Amino acid sequence: MYTYKNIFVITLLLIGQLALSQTPNLGETPSQEMLSSWDTTIDPLGRGLPDGSGTAEEGQPVFLMKCAACHGLEGEGLINDRLVGGHGTIGSDRAVKTVGSYWPYATTLYDYIRRAMPYINPHSLSDQEVYQLTAYILYMNEIIEADERLDKNNLANIEMPNRLNFFSYEYELP
Ligand code: HEC
Repeated sequence: MYTYKNIFVITLLLIGQLALSQTPNLGETPSQEMLSSWDTTIDPLGRGLPDGSGTAEEGQPVFLMKCAACHGLEGEGLINDRLVGGHGTIGSDRAVKTVGSYWPYATTLYDYIRRAMPYINPHSLSDQEVYQLTAYILYMNEIIEADERLDKNNLANIEMPNRLNFFSYEYELP
């Protein structure tokens, strides 16, 4: 259960996120630079991943600061999606779809966080922070170890638990 103190801290974090949020103005023509900052697709083979690296140990404080207000202190879901658990439930009557139980590629997690999170302030994280957060979410799902360092050379090799239930004709994964 969350104590009043925790709820207070979470509320403060949420207000902080709101204060930081920058939305492009309606009617403003985006510059080439602005457009290319959104052209960041990463595929299942890891093509498109930037330089940098991160571990779950490094990611925990970032997650608590920037993500826990919406996703829960341990990724259990609060006002928004649950990010952890549900392993082995896919295909059952009560499937719990999370990043850990459902998503086939770890590279998609990187792409998604960098593109879309934090929800009200996307594109505010450094590439390094995104590696750290990707590692922390994978660690909370017991997919990697706390000190395992992820980078552009090894992220595509992470075996996601539900990978084999997806079929791809385009990508021959290791
Ligand atoms: C203000 C609330 C908020 C904050 C803060 C936030 N998120 Fe989210 N997150 C959401 C919402 C809402 C969704 C669902 C979006 C959708 O489905 O379109 C989501 C979805 C996600 C998903 C996909 C979950 C799934 O199974 O589809 C991931 C991964 C994620 N967030 C990671 C993060 C990370 C990492 C951070 C911190 C950098 C973060 N979020 C911060 C609100 C938030």
